[in-house]
Amino acid sequence: MSYSEKVMEHFSNPRNMGEIENPSGVGTVGNAQCGDIMRVYLDINDGIVNDVKFKTFGCAAAVATSSMATELVKGKTIEEALKVTNAAVCDALDGLPQVKVHCSLLAEEAIHAALWDYAQKEGIAIEGLEPPKSDIHEEEEEEEAY
Ligand code: FES
Repeated sequence: MSYSEKVMEHFSNPRNMGEIENPSGVGTVGNAQCGDIMRVYLDINDGIVNDVKFKTFGCAAAVATSSMATELVKGKTIEEALKVTNAAVCDALDGLPQVKVHCSLLAEEAIHAALWDYAQKEGIAIEGLEPPKSDIHEEEEEEEAY
C-alpha cells in the first residue's frame, strides 16, 4: 500500500485543522469500520462557507482527505459544498489505496452532518441533504454535561 505524494503532503501539513468558536454548524461522525471519529465546524454567511475546520481521531488517510475536503468546500456555496463527495476528494488527492477509501467517507459525512446542523439551527431545508446517519454530537454533549 502506498500513498500519493499529495496524500503525504496533506497529511504532513494538514489545512484547516482546529475548531471554530460559535460555528454555524457542527457535525461529528464515526467510521463504523475502524471506530475513528471526525468533527467538522462550518462558518456560513449568506449561503457561503466562509470558514471550515476539522478535528479527527482518524488515520493518515482521514487527515489527508479532511484537509483536502475542507479546502474544496471553503469559499463555496452550500450547494457546491454538498457536491464535494469522497470520490471528488480522492481524485483531488490522486487516489487512495483501496483499503483506505472508507476513510475518505468521514470527511464527506462530517461536512454533511455540519450542514444538517446548520439547516436545523436556521430552520431551513437544504435540497439534496440527507439527515446524518451517525451524528454523535448530541450524545457526546450530553456526556460532557455530566
Ligand atoms: Fe479509520 Fe482511516 S482507518 S479513518
